Amino acid sequence: MQRVFSGIQPTGNIHIGNYLGAIRNWVDLQDKYESLFCIVDYHAITVEYEPEMLHQRVLELAATLIAAGLDPDKTTLFVQSSVPEHAELTWLFTCITSVGALERMTQFKEKAERQKGGVFAGLMNYPVLMASDILIYKAELVPVGDDQIQHLELTREIARRFNSMFREVFPEPQPLLTKAARIMALNDPTSKMSKSLEGSYIALDDDDNAIRKKIRRAMTDPGPQGGEMGPGVKNLFALLEAFAELELVQKFRDDYANQSLRYADLKQALAEAAVTHLAPIRERIFELLAKPDQLKEILHAGAKHARQLAQETMAEARDAMGFKMPVA
Ligand code: TRP
Repeated sequence: MQRVFSGIQPTGNIHIGNYLGAIRNWVDLQDKYESLFCIVDYHAITVEYEPEMLHQRVLELAATLIAAGLDPDKTTLFVQSSVPEHAELTWLFTCITSVGALERMTQFKEKAERQKGGVFAGLMNYPVLMASDILIYKAELVPVGDDQIQHLELTREIARRFNSMFREVFPEPQPLLTKAARIMALNDPTSKMSKSLEGSYIALDDDDNAIRKKIRRAMTDPGPQGGEMGPGVKNLFALLEAFAELELVQKFRDDYANQSLRYADLKQALAEAAVTHLAPIRERIFELLAKPDQLKEILHAGAKHARQLAQETMAEARDAMGFKMPVA
């Protein structure tokens, strides 16, 4: 079985964009591949963050992933900082990665601009840590969104450089591009749904009425004009497709085509479908969070398994680079 690795940051407010764009896809992958899914808390500290919130955010994300369908019996679910070899390999890779390549990363340039207090080296080295996450498990496939393709290409470059400078240790991972939905902001359907855009998202722990209200307020357009849908309406259809039965989607598509669609009806149906789909997930999140010790137990078991794999690769990498002293 091919091995899949992916990571997600514990930055809070996990929303339906994350769920439909990434998490639900992971749930499907766990049946088809050997999978490792990682809560990347070391990545979360590359921008300003609240240390006293970090642990809670990790637990919330773990609860959300499990509630959404990740099954710790099928997949290895763990927290990055529980496997310190990720950081160790990052150091080795840092020494074979060019500063120029890191400075050219689109996401680095965007994030650096937003760091008013100055840019720390961790932000620039973010993609090196990501490369370590993937390569330390010799993962072959990496499900990521478009915005991470550049980082994955750098990962491949690092693998190639390591293999040619020292010894063949790392396979070059491939992106796993799936037809996952790209969900847009409800209040501005030209940008991606984002936790940093207030009013743009439905969080996975929003209650039924919050879900309804946000959908009711979603931006549309003056009315079906025939032809191409506006971005807001298109987004509502994407959500309807994710949450409702095919027949219902088809009915609304037909209404749209013959210009008899009332957006209020579309929103009403979407809201009910979303509530039906999301309510059990939300309830499960709260159940899991009520037992943090159990949750930590699950993550710990995942980390133990992951760490075993990581240590094997780490030993190879150290040896290939000339470190022959045993780890104490
Ligand atoms: N950078 C990724 C993101 O923001 C998260 C991530 C960290 C990741 N390490 C990874 C994704 C390894 C895939 C593989 O979405």
